[in-house]
Amino acid sequence: MNNIDWKQLPFAYFKTDFNVRVYHKNGQWGNLEVSDSEHIPIHMAATCLHYGQEAFEGMKAFTGIDGRIRIFRMEENAKRMMRSAHGVMMAEVPVDLFSKVVLKAVKLNLKYLPPYGEGASLYIRPLLIGTGAQVGVAPAKEYMFMVFVGPVGPYFKEGFNPVKMQIVRDYDRAAPVGTGHIKVGGNYAASLRAGQRAHQDGYSSCIFLDAREKKYIDEAGPANFFGIKGNTYVTPDSSSILPSITNMSLRVLAADMGMKVETRQIPVEELEEFDEVGACGTAAVISPICLIHDRDTGKVYQYCKNGQPGTISQKLYSRLKGIQEGLEPDVHGWNTFVE
Ligand code: PLP
Ligand code: COI
Repeated sequence: MNNIDWKQLPFAYFKTDFNVRVYHKNGQWGNLEVSDSEHIPIHMAATCLHYGQEAFEGMKAFTGIDGRIRIFRMEENAKRMMRSAHGVMMAEVPVDLFSKVVLKAVKLNLKYLPPYGEGASLYIRPLLIGTGAQVGVAPAKEYMFMVFVGPVGPYFKEGFNPVKMQIVRDYDRAAPVGTGHIKVGGNYAASLRAGQRAHQDGYSSCIFLDAREKKYIDEAGPANFFGIKGNTYVTPDSSSILPSITNMSLRVLAADMGMKVETRQIPVEELEEFDEVGACGTAAVISPICLIHDRDTGKVYQYCKNGQPGTISQKLYSRLKGIQEGLEPDVHGWNTFVE
């Protein structure tokens, strides 16, 4: 038996028993290999180390109220990883292979799946890297796809309690027609300095603006941004943000709730007009934002003045969690059961 204090889990690496790997050589994917090692032996000239040929994904498995295990929207993550692979010229992992590796990694580590009601889930981290050696700038001829998993708690220590964020203009996480729309490591490297400064200044994360004009809201750290204005759900349209699967789902749920949904540019000044704002993503789920500080203008935008998340954010959160944990019917067919 495990002695895991599920309720206290941070969002962090957690060693489990097995991971699953598959190698692409001579133009084709090989067989699944189960490993109990936390390490990857790698050629020193591998392209993932030098030229950023790497992409990853993040998804979650939940124990439902009925005891069944659900993985949320796995196929969307598989498709996004294919787009990431295409973007940095890596071998693409077909959706069925992606699913097979994910399911195997989850099944091999079932004892790490948090029980229902503990506020935790099993985070699933697929990783695709160029392993072939190159010294000239060129894509590798060999790749490895692997999946590891680990139990996690909330990404922001506040959980569903409101967080504070800082608007930055002196850093960009991605260029307008660069790699912001795919999930590759370079975007995260570019976000580290701004993120660390935001933490040191007392904020959970930073809000990046569009890289070209610094006029519009782009991305809320490792999550998408959304705002609620009356009965409208608004989220940025930008070529440099990651198309969040959580956000895609919230747009559907908002429409199901009878809300209007707008995907469009959001000028910074419009922050004044929102009733509620939040960050959304697999790790962040919905993190309501109570305060945004613009570090250049000094302007402060405040929300949820009673200290509580807004009512629409709460509704969206419980609908989303409800589907993921089997409390609500999965009318859109978003869950994959692990049998
Ligand atoms: N934006 C960035 C930069 C992210 O890293 C993530 C996390 O995956 C998201 C948004 C949210 O995407 P998703 O909801 O698919 O997890
Ligand atoms: C996710 O939400 O899955 C993420 O990837 C965010 C972060 C941990 C990179």
